[in-house]
Amino acid sequence: MQTVTGFSKFSKQEKIDYLVNEFFASSSHTTDLLKSFWHPNQDHQKIFDEFSENTLTNFYSPYGVVPNFLLNGKLFCLPMVIEESSVVAACARTAKFWLERGGFSAEVIDTEKVGQVHFSWAGNKEKLFSYFTEIKNELLDEIKPAMTRMEKRGGGILSLELRDKTDLEENYYQLYCTFNTCDAMGANFINSVLEILGEKIKQKVDRAFSEDNLTVIMCILSNYTPNCRVKASVFCPIEKLSDKSLEMSAEQFAFKFAQAVKISKIDVHRAVTHNKGIFNGIDAIVLATGNDFRAIEACGHAFAARDGTYKGLSDISLQNGNFSFSLELPLAMGTVGGLTSLHPLAKFSLDMLGQPEAKELMQVTAAIGLAQNFAALRSLVTSGIQKGHMKMHLMNILNHLGANQFEREKAHEYLQDKIISFNAVREFVGGLRNYQ
Ligand code: MEV
Repeated sequence: MQTVTGFSKFSKQEKIDYLVNEFFASSSHTTDLLKSFWHPNQDHQKIFDEFSENTLTNFYSPYGVVPNFLLNGKLFCLPMVIEESSVVAACARTAKFWLERGGFSAEVIDTEKVGQVHFSWAGNKEKLFSYFTEIKNELLDEIKPAMTRMEKRGGGILSLELRDKTDLEENYYQLYCTFNTCDAMGANFINSVLEILGEKIKQKVDRAFSEDNLTVIMCILSNYTPNCRVKASVFCPIEKLSDKSLEMSAEQFAFKFAQAVKISKIDVHRAVTHNKGIFNGIDAIVLATGNDFRAIEACGHAFAARDGTYKGLSDISLQNGNFSFSLELPLAMGTVGGLTSLHPLAKFSLDMLGQPEAKELMQVTAAIGLAQNFAALRSLVTSGIQKGHMKMHLMNILNHLGANQFEREKAHEYLQDKIISFNAVREFVGGLRNYQ
């Protein structure tokens, strides 16, 4: 294989031709496959092409919804973009379960975002700190023009401090800033402000001191936003958990459930899987609303390890005969800017959610994470995960085997009360085929 030059300048067709020639035997099949996923509406396709670079086609994911999700006394229909079978069904089942028990509650604790200018300076530390105090207001004046639009919306910079990091790395300091970015996730706003601050502090320090030049290493927002936090919870008397599908008493269920949560606090292998289940729900709505799931995940996992040990994110209490289950985590989300209005389906999701403010979207997202965690733990401590999971996965197995409608119907009927595995389905479909 040869290296390719100027690939990004190729037309879409030229890019496809290049790939076909280099990696695929059948040119018409590959080209047809890629084109079959182009959007028939050219305007829509253009939008998708321009989200990224070197785009050839679209990679589809299922878009599902969970109706009847009661949160803070309001009914929502939640959008979820996720490929994993059983996640949406599990969330819908949990939504129904809690609908009959008062629904979910959520509250935003704070919405503070963070940005840092990382720099090095070999001069005298005390002089730097006293000079920073002198010029702090000038620095704030310098960023005023970049702040105008955000301030009009009620946001802006909340704090600006100089932090000494020289005990960790020689000559290393930070300008540590916090922001309110209102309904925007705010990455572009924060990064623009930080770059101005970086440039200005360098100019001023270099002018004031001849002993050394300040070097700006980088200016960037931090995706770790522990103070942009929300808490979702469900609560009911333990006896109200009673449900025949649990196949055990409400008390037994609550106790096993609480043990499962406790295990996520003391065993890292379980903690990661526990949190993965939470993010099954969170990522799905984050994607559906055009938010940045990598930022949300990175932050959530760092928060899970905030005291030095990685732990499950949810909490349980079984006091005074009550079941109280909650999830508190940082969620830096936006309902304006970025993909939220550019992606037609992200816009649709936000419309379906009633055009929420960022704070309400944070609440909804935390609640869906809690719902997904409840669903997973409920299955794990009762029937086991495979029963429901494989039932939903049956469709994937049948697709994999190329089953026709007759085979699908028969397989669903036959496997209704059996343990589903790939082999069991293959044998059953094989049997039907031999018989026909
Ligand atoms: C599967 O995607 C997620 C679970 O493993 C989560 C959990 O174990 O809590 C079911």
